[in-house]
Amino acid sequence: MKKIHVNLSANSYNIYIDKDLLVKVGEMIAKGKEPCKTLLITDENIGKIYGEIVAENFRQNNFDVKLLALPPGEDQKNIENALLLYDHCFAHKLDRKSLIVALGGGVIGDLSGFIAATFMRGIPYIQIPTSLLAQVDSSIGGKVAVNHPKGKNMIGCFYQPTAVFIDTNTLSTLPSKEMVAGFVEVIKYGVIRDAELFAFLEKSMYDIFQLNHEALLKIIATSCQIKANVVEQDEKEKDLRAILNYGHTIGHAIETITNYKKYRHGEAVAIGMLYASKIAIELGLTDNTVFERQLSLIKNLGLSIQTGLKSESIIKALYTDKKTISGRLRFVLPTKIGEVIISDKVSDEILYRILDNPL
Ligand SMILES: NC(=O)c1ccc[n+]([C@@H]2O[C@H](COP(=O)([O-])OP(=O)(O)OC[C@H]3O[C@@H](n4cnc5c(N)ncnc54)[C@H](O)[C@@H]3O)[C@@H](O)[C@H]2O)c1
Ligand SMILES: [Zn+2]
Repeated sequence: MKKIHVNLSANSYNIYIDKDLLVKVGEMIAKGKEPCKTLLITDENIGKIYGEIVAENFRQNNFDVKLLALPPGEDQKNIENALLLYDHCFAHKLDRKSLIVALGGGVIGDLSGFIAATFMRGIPYIQIPTSLLAQVDSSIGGKVAVNHPKGKNMIGCFYQPTAVFIDTNTLSTLPSKEMVAGFVEVIKYGVIRDAELFAFLEKSMYDIFQLNHEALLKIIATSCQIKANVVEQDEKEKDLRAILNYGHTIGHAIETITNYKKYRHGEAVAIGMLYASKIAIELGLTDNTVFERQLSLIKNLGLSIQTGLKSESIIKALYTDKKTISGRLRFVLPTKIGEVIISDKVSDEILYRILDNPL
């Protein structure tokens, strides 16, 4: 088992990573917490495979568990479901010492975390992420939210979990498209902070997709450690945390103009990373190998990288993104594999030139 400590003074917590954790998690929590009323939130896909296993393990450790499965999908991350979940919190008589457990992908993690952050001004919650994206990204860092018709994640706050339990076995049932989408975030960590991780991905892609335990442990633990380090230095995204948005500026624009239907988040981010690298080359910040190495990894994932989208529409969407600061676009740009800078010096002229050419 790997254990990563996220050091956020009073909000510190541990991330545990191993196989077979689902059947141990209740026992592990019981070591540090009195048994209590527990709302275990999942989605129907995950619930039918793992819901009872986890609920039973908590019950064996005297927790009074209610298991609740929402339909799957991004559109479930809404305020109506938040209200429904508050009703369940009241019906199950949760109080400020009770526990919320999020068992699922980023949708369940973000929504359940939002409930935990707001019910009675905040009660403890545990993350058990089951998608690769949730294991390396959304379950760590304490951003919790629901979507609003005006935009994704617009209603939310920062609220850290009590602990995160990552069971690598759960990836055996994850649809391969979701595995690929999560893998893109791992590539991102390599580019922003860790050339060795990047080289490992180039060497071990086959093992990772064969779900080799050691390979999974390595990429998940390294990703969690990188995210933890960044979040420790900048919990509320004042500056450094923005490097985690590498590939996300153009990625979000692509998701927005295709109405979040055509691309999985990771697929759009992959294209965004390639464009960001092209911009960095154009600005003389880096050389072509940085682009070529990412391109090769992304192509091996089977992702298509040509969007057919017009540069005008991408640029328009960029300027309406909530991450724009005083109307200036900010890009995270690689200087080499393992190092990025944040720049607000990318002119519209450069953007048009890059986005008008195929990748
Ligand atoms: N809080 C953050 O910092 C942060 C960071 C990145 C993304 N996010 C959010 O995360 C969400 C995306 O997360 P996601 O990609 O995990 O999506 P998701 O939660 O919709 O899960 C993807 C799909 O995989 C299924 N699934 C998950 N684990 C499974 C398993 N082990 N076996 C079988 N099926 C499984 C789910 O039912 C779903 O259909 C978005 O809402 C995004 O905004 C949040
Ligand atoms: Zn992302």
